[in-house]
Amino acid sequence: MYNIHSIADRTISRSEKENRLGQRAKVFWFTGLSGSGKSTLAIAMERKLFDLGYQAVILDGDTIRTGINNNLTFSPEDREENIRRIAEVAKLFLESGMICIVSFITPARDMRQRAKEIIGADDFVEVFIDTPLAICEARDVKGLYKKARAGEIQNFTGIDAPYEPPVQPMIHIQTGTEEVEQSLSTLFAKASLLIKW
Ligand code: ADX
Repeated sequence: MYNIHSIADRTISRSEKENRLGQRAKVFWFTGLSGSGKSTLAIAMERKLFDLGYQAVILDGDTIRTGINNNLTFSPEDREENIRRIAEVAKLFLESGMICIVSFITPARDMRQRAKEIIGADDFVEVFIDTPLAICEARDVKGLYKKARAGEIQNFTGIDAPYEPPVQPMIHIQTGTEEVEQSLSTLFAKASLLIKW
């Protein structure tokens, strides 16, 4: 970049911050269809971490898209930009020692790969919230599948826009057949080892 003088090498180190917080910073990147339960599980995870004395932050598609990313649509290019910005934001939290729970559809493998590159492979934990389309559509919590089927919304993931499931997710949650508590303990079985200081 031109005329940029980063102060990154003079700020307090990530490990000093992690040490104070008593945790290892990580990014848990939730991917899955709309209505798959990403936000529900993200909220449950944040609560559990907090109760155990950890500091975490949630970055969620529906929230971020009304603020910092409110100029982006659901075209493939804008989704890519959505994910790029969030990966950069997650990296900032990571550098400040925080556990980051990122909850975005992130429909394409390329996008997730790019996010992993920005964040760093060691700190990127891919969590596949694997709920069959039929179940997400039957739940239709936000009424969006109905609108997409009626042609009132275009480029809707799973209907007229693709979702590429992860090939080897580090954590695989099948929410279709289980309760939130069960999903949370599957998640925690692996997550707790990764964040231990
Ligand atoms: S992503 O594809 O760019 O990762 P993101 O997670 O930010 O998507 O936003 C998804 C949320 O936006 C969905 O949960 C849903 O509430 C809403 N939404 C609105 N339009 C669409 C659409 N065309 N496709 C998917 N989700 C949509």
